[in-house]
Amino acid sequence: MSHLNEQMNQWIQYIEECLENYIPKQVEFPPVIFEAMGYSLFAGGKRLRPMMVLAACEAVGGDKAEAVPFACAIEMIHTYSLIHDDLPAMDNDDYRRGRLTNHKVYGEDMAILAGDGLLHHAMEIMADACCLNPCFKTVGAMQAIAHGAGIHGMLVGQVVDVYFEGKPLDAKTLNFIHLNKTAAMIRGALKAGAILGGATENVAEQFALAGEKIGVAFQILDDILDVTSTMEELGKPIHSDEKNEKATYVTLYGIEKSRQIACKLSDEAVSIWEEMGESCTFLIDLTKYLTKRTY
Ligand code: IPE
Ligand code: IPE
Ligand code: MG
Ligand code: MG
Ligand code: MG
Repeated sequence: MSHLNEQMNQWIQYIEECLENYIPKQVEFPPVIFEAMGYSLFAGGKRLRPMMVLAACEAVGGDKAEAVPFACAIEMIHTYSLIHDDLPAMDNDDYRRGRLTNHKVYGEDMAILAGDGLLHHAMEIMADACCLNPCFKTVGAMQAIAHGAGIHGMLVGQVVDVYFEGKPLDAKTLNFIHLNKTAAMIRGALKAGAILGGATENVAEQFALAGEKIGVAFQILDDILDVTSTMEELGKPIHSDEKNEKATYVTLYGIEKSRQIACKLSDEAVSIWEEMGESCTFLIDLTKYLTKRTY
């Protein structure tokens, strides 16, 4: 196993232990909602967004323990977005993270509520952390994550993504979709982590910019893997975009050109980290790995 793989596995283990503490286990009634939330939250997943929160915090000299509530919150928001993204009214997919999608197991009503539950719980966790330690670090981190997920972030990206299904779409609109549906959350993760670590405004903005570039590259790879990978490897169905008549980087530019665009964005993000010095080594390695990922 490579050194990066080992580091990523350590982060994943740490994040999953932290997440476990946030989902109630023993409840009298109604347990099904917590079961449904946990079903998708603990189904695996690369845990990239929480990893970025924690790693960014450490990269600027902060203590990762202070970032834990925000890391867990962003993974909950991300998982909610996946549960809703898979619903019949949206991408209508049957598998996610290697298991049946939430609505296939718990029904659409509970899946909608489980997604809502994860979103609300994330807000509660962040608000509690802000009240416990009211300062710019906590409030600024919550703001970065809320903006990443919000109506000028992931939400609007999903809206435009769905709106253009089956319709012709130009490169500018596709870039808008990717910048918002995917890059906004990754931007928010890195910015929140930097703020929690005590970065200056300027440095936090650099982390945000790197996140934006990594995020668009990440979604380009997701579009590519949707046509080149397998369901076994991805843990979710392939050809979902074609099924839903979605224009993607692959349909607009082809696979090779799409790869080139993703690599260029990734290189730009790496340059930002390189200027910041050795403390960003893990983030640089992670960024490079993401353009080569197979799932
Ligand atoms: C899937 O995100 C949705 C996209 C933004 C492409 P991930 O590929 O990070 O999914 P998990 O968290 O590993 O399941
Ligand atoms: C969704 O993009 C991004 C989200 C905000 C969930 P996709 O619809 O391409 O993600 P996958 O392929 O289902 O993971
Ligand atoms: Mg989608
Ligand atoms: Mg989808
Ligand atoms: Mg996809």
